[in-house]
Amino acid sequence: MLLSTSRPKPSSPVAGAPLFPQPLRLHGNGVERALRCRVLQSPLAGVSDRIFRELVRRWAPEALLYTEMVNATSLELGHGRLKLEDLATEAGPIAVQLFDHRPAAMAEAARRAEAAGAFLIDINMGCPVKKIARKGGGSGLIREPELAARIVEAVAAAVAIPVTVKTRLGWCGGGVQAGAADAGAVRWCRQLEQAGAQLLTLHGRSREQGFSGRADWAAIAAVKRSLVIPLIANGDVNSPEAARRCLQQSGADGVMVGRGTMGAPWLGGKSAAALDGRPVPPTPGPAERLALAAEQLQALVASRGERRLLIARKHMGWTCQRFAGAPQLRHALMRAATPAEALELLARAAAALA
Ligand SMILES: Cc1cc2nc3c(=O)[nH]c(=O)nc-3n(C[C@H](O)[C@H](O)[C@H](O)COP(=O)(O)O)c2cc1C
Repeated sequence: MLLSTSRPKPSSPVAGAPLFPQPLRLHGNGVERALRCRVLQSPLAGVSDRIFRELVRRWAPEALLYTEMVNATSLELGHGRLKLEDLATEAGPIAVQLFDHRPAAMAEAARRAEAAGAFLIDINMGCPVKKIARKGGGSGLIREPELAARIVEAVAAAVAIPVTVKTRLGWCGGGVQAGAADAGAVRWCRQLEQAGAQLLTLHGRSREQGFSGRADWAAIAAVKRSLVIPLIANGDVNSPEAARRCLQQSGADGVMVGRGTMGAPWLGGKSAAALDGRPVPPTPGPAERLALAAEQLQALVASRGERRLLIARKHMGWTCQRFAGAPQLRHALMRAATPAEALELLARAAAALA
């Protein structure tokens, strides 16, 4: 059991004073964990690999980061182990996020993740991808609350570290008809709490909404009021100001940043500084972005070979934004056939800025 959620009222923040002077403590099943940073970096499949996490850490050294989601059954079959490799050597807290619909496979995967150095285990009950939800994993578990509870119980019994769940407001609805959706979300989240989840992260959209519309922070507030365990608000936290507003509106114990960090790994650190009352670091300018893009590309290629260029292209496209010539540069980068060609383009763009 957890929990120390004491904090000043987010509705009356004092400039310069930290919004959350105390760390968030999760007692686990024998191994306690303390979250010193109230801004969490979301799991992003295909994005939040080790190299991305290392960039995020530069701005947010104490933030809880997540692996990309790991399929428990695949892990059993020997695939996906790469995502657990070297966790123990990574600086700062890393949660391993698991998904599956089989309690025993989830428990076994959680044991492996704990042995690999996971800070905590997070269960994905929010992924809207059809292939996953149809099989009963990710957001599919929202429609199977009894199975979801059995999964939480099995995982919590398997490990000593805390077990958390990341989910959505519901399977369908959301947006317009708030009140009714809130009641469903409250019931769903309380079931997860009763099953033994020690913290929930709630994305303020339903499965049906996917990533469209606006995240409903008021619905998150309704859930927060009904829970004893801490709640992290997620959805549309795209700036330090949004982080503050989201906390004020939701009363949550922290926020999780997601898509806003793609091409902007500094967002979590900037938001954390704002909540802590520290000076907010400046957003890197064009030259720094180009250097970062080159560094990320080189690290990706060094770790996994030239075929990582495909992944690097995505990151370069997000990072090379908002400066003169950026659209043309992105266009050329998407067509670069080799990492060397892409690096040459980045170097030329940097020289043109100087
Ligand atoms: C490319 C991408 C990959 C994602 N992968 C995961 C994942 O592996 N696990 C998960 O729980 N959520 C995943 N999400 C959802 C995000 O973690 C987050 O909940 C969502 O984007 C809402 O936050 P935002 O509005 O700040 O982006 C993913 C989202 C995107 C866009």
